[in-house]
Formats: sequence, C-alpha cells, structure tokens
Amino acid sequence: MIFVTGGAGFIGSNFVLDWLGQSDEGVVNLDKLTYAGNLDNLASLQDDPRHLFVRGDICDGALVLALLNQHRPRAIVHFAAESHVDRSIHGPAEFIATNVNGTFALLEAARAYWSALAGAEKDDFRFVHISTDEVYGSLGEHGAPFVETTAYAPNSPYSASKAASDHLVRAYFHTYGLPTVTTNCSNNYGPYQFPEKLIPLVMANALAGKPLPIYGDGGQIRDWLYVSDHCAAVRRALEAGRPGEVYNVGGWNEMRNIDVVHTLCDILDQAAPKAAGSYAGQIALVPDRPGHDRRYAVDAGKIQRELGWKPVETFDTGIRKTVQWYLDHQAWVAHVQSGAYLSWVEQNYANREVV
Ligand code: NAD
Ligand code: DAU
Repeated sequence: MIFVTGGAGFIGSNFVLDWLGQSDEGVVNLDKLTYAGNLDNLASLQDDPRHLFVRGDICDGALVLALLNQHRPRAIVHFAAESHVDRSIHGPAEFIATNVNGTFALLEAARAYWSALAGAEKDDFRFVHISTDEVYGSLGEHGAPFVETTAYAPNSPYSASKAASDHLVRAYFHTYGLPTVTTNCSNNYGPYQFPEKLIPLVMANALAGKPLPIYGDGGQIRDWLYVSDHCAAVRRALEAGRPGEVYNVGGWNEMRNIDVVHTLCDILDQAAPKAAGSYAGQIALVPDRPGHDRRYAVDAGKIQRELGWKPVETFDTGIRKTVQWYLDHQAWVAHVQSGAYLSWVEQNYANREVV
C-alpha cells in the first residue's frame, strides 16, 4: 500500500479518489482535518476497505512511525500542508509548524522506517514530496518559465515554508540516501477546491450575488492545471521518477487573473444565467495582496521528456468541467461555507483514539 498525507484536502482527495479508481493498491490516509480537510470529499470511499483514514498530525513523529511500521507502505506521497497564501500573510506560524516542522518530522519517521528495510523493499521505496512553483518567486513579463534549476526566491511566508521543506527533502536524499522525488506544480483547479482560492471563490460569490474580488489590477499571471492532470503527474513521479530528482509540473497555460474571472463569468452566463445582466457586472477591484507575485510560468518539459507526462485537459475543457462540478455540488460548497463539516468532524473524532 501507499501512505498519503493530506489526503482529505483538495489535491490529496482527488489523488486518493483517482488512485483507487485505477488500482486496488490500498491507501493509508493521514490528515489532521484542519479547516481545509474535508471527509465529504472522500464520502464515496466510506465503506471501501482499500482506504484507511487516520486523523492525525504529520508533526507527531511517533504516530507517523507507528503507522509506517504497522502498515508497511512502499511509498509516502506527501501533500499535507497549509496551502493558502493569504492565510500565511495573516498567520504564518501554522505554515512553519506544518510545512517546515511537519515535513521534518515526516522525513525523520520515513528515514527510520526506510533504514530498517532491506533488499528490493528498500531500493524501491519512494518519498514523493508535493511542492509548488511559488518557491521560484516572481517572473517579469518576458522572463523564461521556471525550470528545475531556477534559483529559489520565495516571497510569501507560504512559499518560504514550502521552499524550506523542499530543501529538507533534498538534504535527506543527499545525506541519508532516502529515495525522494519532488514535484513543483503550478496553480491547480477542479472539484473539491476550498472556496478561498480564486476559482471556487469567484464561482461561489457569483452565484450568491456577491462581489468578485480581484486583487490590484488583475494583471497577475498564473499557470493553471486541472487537478486530475496533477494527480497523473504525481503517479508518474512515483512510478518512474528518479530518486533525488525534481520535476516541474504545469499546464502550459498562462492567464491573467482578470481573464480567468471573465472566462468564469462567460461560462456561468450560459450555464446558470442571471435574471438580468452578466456575472461580470459583479467584478470588483480590491486592494492588492501584500508582496503579490506578478507572474508564474512553468516549463514542464523535463517531466514530459523523462516520464512521458503532459496534461490531458486544456483550460477550456478543464474549466467547463469545473464550473459544472460546482453547479452540481452546491450543497458541498454550502456545507464548507457554513462550517457544518467541521462540527461533524468534532462530533465524529472528539473521543476517538487513533490506532
Ligand atoms: P489543501 O489546503 O486543500 O489541503 C491540505 C490538507 O492537508 C488538508 O486536508 C489538511 O487537513 C491537511 N493538513 C494540514 N496540516 C496538516 C498536518 N499538520 N498534518 C496532517 N494533515 C495536515 O491543499 P491543496 O491545495 O490540496 O495542496 C496540497 C499540496 O499541494 C500542498 O503541499 C501544496 O503546497 C501543494 N500544491 C498546491 C497547489 C494548488 O494549486 N492548490 C499547487 C501546487 C502545489
Ligand atoms: O502556484 C501554485 C500555488 O497556487 C499553490 O502552491 C498554492 O497552494 C495555491 O493556493 C495557489 O496560490 P495562489 O496564491 O496563486 O492562488 P489563489 O487562488 O489564492 O490566487 C490566484 C491568483 O488570484 C493570485 O494572483 C491572487 C489572485 N486572487 C486571489 C483571491 C483569493 C484575487 O485576485 N482575488 C482573490 O479573492
């Protein structure tokens, strides 16, 4: 089996669902269930014996090591993180705790577990670390897209904490030989994304008749990738990634924020028309994010050349699927916004001991 961290979050839950949709290899899913972790995402696996969910913190090294020794996974796929840049500006401490200290605790447990393996089990073990393109900092209008050798220049507490975790992973490969593979991916979108991130936030606000907040002039550029394409890239990195290597993952799809929001409004105008006017009438320019990176762009050539991965979805196909998913799952959005899923978590887990 494989051991996944953060598998109740946006990308992690998509990964677990995709994984078990394509393979019978079991998943132990360790997630703290912060505000971003939502077991509703995994409801379809409730009675599936291939999925074992454990509520717990990656910072708890003793728990992680006990789980590894008990379940003996052949790989760790590490998604767990604090992931929202705006939250890192208001409260960086949690980002250092989980992204830096948590990754360190996980690496220590992985090293102890892996060191005790032998033969093919030891050789074939992998620690796949999921990271972000934000570690490379901000590009100018004409700067070449990020490659794996681009110098790190993180600008937010979030990206600095992810950069620190990448450096720790690199050090564990070079110093101890732990067979790590790191992926640095661009902006994801798709089902189960928490409505604090641009695309689901804009959809939720549009349908609720609220303003669609665009930071600054809306001219910032991101490279958007549909989440199932990211999941496929992580699977390839686990299958065939070379230990110690880094692979950039991206959609070859740079867009300005203002254009993303207009695209969403156009699709919603067709799929869920307002009584009068366009959703674009709700767009509101608001003060900028402090330290806002202007442009990210990813050169995903290495993973295409070496592992044969490239995205399947274009932005047009991916965003239409995404809009339809949110229209079909408005109860999921309402549940997240009301916080009802969190009270359920407390009710369900308050008096449970972890195995
Ligand atoms: P998310 O915020 O939706 O989910 C994070 C998950 O981690 C949640 O389920 C949360 O409960 C869990 N978690 C947080 N702290 C934990 C802890 N201490 N112990 C155990 N579990 C904990 O994040 P996401 O958008 O799914 O991102 C997943 C990973 O992918 C992150 O490492 C992020 O840096 C990276 N990434 C995200 C994007 C993106 O566009 N969302 C792009 C590139 C890379
Ligand atoms: O690049 C990969 C990163 O993408 C991941 O590592 C992060 O975990 C993920 O959150 C994402 O970071 P961003 O900051 O780019 O995503 P976000 O959806 O928060 O914002 C996308 C762009 O939209 C960014 O330029 C800020 C802008 N924005 C965002 C929000 C929430 C707005 O203009 N208005 C908003 O209300």
